[in-house]
Amino acid sequence: MAFLSDTLARVKPSPTIAVTNKARELKEAGRDVIGLGAGEPDFDTPANIKAAAIAAIEAGKTKYTAVDGIPELKKAICAKFERENGLSYKPSQITVSSGGKQVLYNALVATLNPGDEVIIPAPYWVSYPDMVLLAGGTPVFVEGPMQTGYKITGAELEAAITPKTKWFIFNSPSNPSGAAYSREELKEITDVLMRHPQVWVMSDDMYEHLCFGDFEFVTPAQVEPGLYDRTLTCNGVSKAYAMTGWRIGYAGGPESLIKAMGKVQSQSTSNPCSISQYAAVEALSGPQDYIAESCKAFERRRDLVVAALNTCPGISCPTPEGAFYVYPSIAGCIGKTSAAGTKITDDEAFAAALLEEANVAVVFGAAFGLSPNFRISYATSDAALTEACARIKAFCEGLK
Ligand SMILES: Cc1ncc(COP(=O)(O)O)c(C=O)c1O
Repeated sequence: MAFLSDTLARVKPSPTIAVTNKARELKEAGRDVIGLGAGEPDFDTPANIKAAAIAAIEAGKTKYTAVDGIPELKKAICAKFERENGLSYKPSQITVSSGGKQVLYNALVATLNPGDEVIIPAPYWVSYPDMVLLAGGTPVFVEGPMQTGYKITGAELEAAITPKTKWFIFNSPSNPSGAAYSREELKEITDVLMRHPQVWVMSDDMYEHLCFGDFEFVTPAQVEPGLYDRTLTCNGVSKAYAMTGWRIGYAGGPESLIKAMGKVQSQSTSNPCSISQYAAVEALSGPQDYIAESCKAFERRRDLVVAALNTCPGISCPTPEGAFYVYPSIAGCIGKTSAAGTKITDDEAFAAALLEEANVAVVFGAAFGLSPNFRISYATSDAALTEACARIKAFCEGLK
């Protein structure tokens, strides 16, 4: 009898974490590696948020809380949804978990039965397919190629829907492409969903606040109120407030689903960290200046990286609307050989050679379900990005 479960055997460890670990190991061994793998803001958590956490500790708010969130935080989340998304939720329609990741996982575990299908546009955040598999469901992919800005059309979504489709996972702005859907583009998607009442919508709005220029962020239940009763609107404080380590994510949705998700959480982790919950109240209710400042810095870095990558032979990099990632195509590098003699057969070989020969760590596109590409996280200093892009250019110029 096998000791490990059959379900676990179908799941891969996170390739983004693997790249980050590899870059760290090489750095510790003395190599001058620039890591562009990690998906977290390089800024510090704002001081007012830290102060709220310290105050919570000093006030003794260090015990178990309600499993799916303290009332103060649920109230702040309701106010956030109303203020920023025009969505009305009651506190009983809100759940709080240890990070956005746990919110999504709870929802999938609470709803999927064997054979249930979950539609995931590719390129996708690495965790979606594996979370679906862990929860017993079947991921179904719809490719959004570079030519359509890494987005899918309504017709492509409709072609993937079957009577077994339970969820459609929507992520805009996207990890890994940074692509974000305009109101018109999203309306085309929601129009299709209105015709298929068995399909629920899991909208992962984690990068909501990282939209550049005058791009307007929109979420499905806002664009199509007819979907409100079957949409789980997911978000969190990790990316918006540089709080990745605090582990607070949340969602608003129909009460029956929220209750079921709370049941999953009650038998796994119980409440998210009490201190982090008080910090999140301050993040959502306190001054919001940090968001605009970080957004400005990310937009500048996006422009820097896109311009530099488009000077590299064989690379083509569209300009994404948001998040802190770019997802260039390396179609023009495939089939060539690097200066050190590595044949670039696919994007995994490209990323491995880039790390080995140019000391730049990126994540290969196959990990996100769309090739040949790689992902750069530009949540690092301008100096590191400039140097990394120069190394990538030299590497590409050396391909024969
Ligand atoms: C698209 C997307 N959703 C959810 C998450 C999870 O966020 P958290 O750190 O709050 O669990 C991430 C983190 O990288 C992400 O990129």
